[in-house]
Amino acid sequence: MLTSVIRFCGQHEGKPVSCYSGSTPCTEIEMTRFGKWFAIILLSLGVLVAIAISLTIGWRPILGPRARALTNRTFERTPQRLERGRYIATAMSGCIYCHTPHNWSAPNAPYV
Ligand code: HEC
Repeated sequence: MLTSVIRFCGQHEGKPVSCYSGSTPCTEIEMTRFGKWFAIILLSLGVLVAIAISLTIGWRPILGPRARALTNRTFERTPQRLERGRYIATAMSGCIYCHTPHNWSAPNAPYV
């Protein structure tokens, strides 16, 4: 058989499709053998691309970063905690180096 027929029987804006088409009860679309293979190849390509994305860059560049909802959790502010934070940001991890503007024209590029 060279052609296969797809029937679309359903509703459009709440009314059965047959009310629209009048003579035929359903909309029929003839699909040639070429069309069928084209659809199969297209579908296979889609699956291959999905697998390739999963195995390489992952979906995050497309979906965006994962995010948690913010909470209203707070921590007691103590001088000890402030000092520990200062130590981590300045001495431990070098956060300050990137997150503070420098005077790049002065020797040693001091923080502004
Ligand atoms: C090598 C330079 C560098 C260092 C060191 C660094 N950061 Fe960053 N940080 C960046 C840059 C660049 C961004 C902006 C990234 C972006 O927007 O994509 C950023 C962003 C952030 C943000 C904002 C994240 C957000 O979601 O907007 C926070 C908070 C932060 N850094 C905290 C820290 C802390 C805490 C440390 C030390 C543990 C630190 N950074 C060390 C370069 C640095």
